[in-house]
Formats: sequence, structure tokens, C-alpha cells
Amino acid sequence: MQLIDKYSRRFQYLRLSITELCNFKCQYCLPDGYHPNRDHKFLSINEIDNVVAAFTELGVHKVRLTGGEPTLRRDFIDILALLSSYPTIKVRAVTTNGSRLVKNIDQWQAAGLNAINISIDSLSPHVFKMITGQDKLFELLRGVDRTLELGIKRVKINTVLMKNSNDNLVDYLAWIKDRAIDLRFIELMETGEDRTLFDRYHLSGSKIEKQLIEQGWQLQQKEQLAGPAKLYIHEDYQGKIGLIMPYSKDFCQNCNRLRISSIGKLHYCLFGDAAVDLRELLAAPTLREALKARILSSLSIKPEKHLLHDHNVGITENLSYIGG
Ligand code: GTP
Ligand code: 5AD
Ligand code: SF4
Repeated sequence: MQLIDKYSRRFQYLRLSITELCNFKCQYCLPDGYHPNRDHKFLSINEIDNVVAAFTELGVHKVRLTGGEPTLRRDFIDILALLSSYPTIKVRAVTTNGSRLVKNIDQWQAAGLNAINISIDSLSPHVFKMITGQDKLFELLRGVDRTLELGIKRVKINTVLMKNSNDNLVDYLAWIKDRAIDLRFIELMETGEDRTLFDRYHLSGSKIEKQLIEQGWQLQQKEQLAGPAKLYIHEDYQGKIGLIMPYSKDFCQNCNRLRISSIGKLHYCLFGDAAVDLRELLAAPTLREALKARILSSLSIKPEKHLLHDHNVGITENLSYIGG
């Protein structure tokens, strides 16, 4: 059984949000910080096991843990070890704000982590603090260097582009000159809570792309199963620059991912207007067949593309509960 939708897109990649909790206050996500929702009980490790088992049987071999901030979970290491117990899961990834990176990356790698995306919205401490509410840039950069030292191969940095705040390429280029990382600029996306912010700060990635091309950067051919970023390479640089441009034409055509929220809902699109509740089928392994049947039968609701151009953001209030 395979997960393939009516537009011939194949899904072998699951993004699993394991908490909504976050210790940052990114302007575009949780500007007032995280406020607990009493009705939201996050998936237990047993429920995570059951959902992961079902998806691996449906052909998934990459799982990315997201949040909120996934590393804040006390059982984060146990969850990594759980993923490692599935031989078919080849890529065990996390997307993190990096706040726990320098202290814990050794342990995470030992538990099986082999891919990591780290958010760094600016290389200027002052701008970093303005965007994320945290004064942790240098600690984070030390964490990135430790990650590279450990030999983790898939290391990506996420920078959400904000007009006139963090859109000057100079510092980023110097930083990746001798570091083998993909630094990706993500176009700011509108969510239910941020129309004003969006109008003020959204910048098209094509502005950055134009500068890169002028400076001799070249578009790299996409690898099979690659994510949404267009990657640029340059012979003088070890690192690559990526652009994630959800507002560009045909962005959704190669979508390869499905998402589970921290409360067990299956989201077919980051900006969809519906989600399928799987929770009642996550309680026990005996429900596995019913769970797989629900996942397969609801695949038909995955939309062809998002409707962000019409400012239709679906049910997504912000990306903290579904992990981007
Ligand atoms: P990998 O290919 O596993 O590295 O995934 P990724 O680069 O998408 O992972 P990451 O968690 O670092 O996500 C980067 C950001 O890109 C997300 O948080 C979103 O902001 C954006 N993004 C990723 N996938 C999608 C998508 O399907 N639709 C839209 N609109 N944006 C996405
Ligand atoms: N627009 C673009 N990217 C966003 N992220 C969170 N909210 C938004 C948004 N509104 C990014 C974060 C992080 C990833 C998980 O999602 O910066 O890199
Ligand atoms: Fe936290 Fe990530 Fe949202 Fe920033 S973008 S507030 S790090 S969940």
C-alpha cells in the first residue's frame, strides 16, 4: 500500500508535531509567546509509536519531529530512540529553534538523529532578538558548529525573510563560506493571526535569487525526494543557499509530505481548511488496520495547492501547532 494522491504525488515523508509548547516568541508565529490550551493534550509516546508504525507500513521512510519546539519534550530522546527502532525510517529529523542544541546535540545523535533543521532568523544578535524575543544567537551558533563537528550530514538553517530586517545577504554568505550547510530563506507566509505583519514584512524570495545569480550562484538540480527549497551553489562556498518560495508558481506540485499535529490530526496541507482526527485510532496497535484505512481513504481531500494568493489561510492560526 502506498500513499499516492490523485495528482500523482507520493508521500514517503511524515512531519510529526509532538508539542505546541515553545520558548521563543517569533514575531511571525507566537509574538506573545505560547499560551497553553487546556483542551490540547499532546500525543503520548505510545500514540506516537502507533502513528509512526502505521505510516511506515504505508511507505513512509522519513520522519521529521516538529513543534512548537519539539526538543522541550521531556521524552524527546525516547521519541528519537523510538524512531530509530524502525529500520525502514532512514531519515530521523528534527526542526528546532536551537535553544537546546549546544547542550544536547551529542545525545540526540547518539539516540539516532541524522538530520536537523535549525531556525536562525538573523546573524545580528540585535535583529535576532527583535525577531525571536530571545538573546541566544551566539549559543545557537555554537550549537550549529558542534552539530557540524559531529559529522551530521543533513544540516539546514531556516531564515524567514523579513523585509528591511534580515534581508541583507552579506553576513550569511560569509558565514556559510566554510560551513557545509544549506541556508534557506523562507518567504514569510500569512497565517490567521498576522495579516498586518505579512503586509509589512513579506518579501519575495526572487529578490534574493536575483542577487545570487548576479554574484555567480547557480541553481542546483533537485534531487529525488528533495524538499521545497530551490538550492543555489557556488564554487567558492561550502554552503548552499536555498529559497523556499510558497508564493511562487507550481510550488505545491511536488509536495511530498503529510503532517500530524500534536493532538493527532492529520493535515493534508499546511493551509488546508480541514484535518482528519486520528486520535481515537492511536490508542492501541490493534487499531492499526482501521488507522491505515482512515489515512488512505482521506488522502482524497489533499488539495492540489494552497490558496495563499487569495489570503485564504485555511484553519492555520500560526505554524506553532503544526510545525511549519
Ligand atoms: P526537509 O525537506 O525535510 O528539510 O523539509 P523542509 O525544508 O520543508 O523542513 P523545515 O521544517 O525546515 O521547513 C521549512 C519551512 O518551509 C516550513 O516550516 C515552512 O515554513 C516551509 N514549508 C515546508 N513545507 C511546506 C509546504 O508544504 N507548504 C508551504 N507552504 N510551506 C512549506
Ligand atoms: N512564515 C514562514 N515561515 C514560518 N515559520 C514559522 N512561521 C512561519 C511563517 N508564518 C518557520 C520557522 C521555522 C519553521 C518551522 O517554520 O521559522 O523555521
Ligand atoms: Fe517557536 Fe518555531 Fe514558532 Fe518561533 S517559529 S515561536 S521557534 S514554534
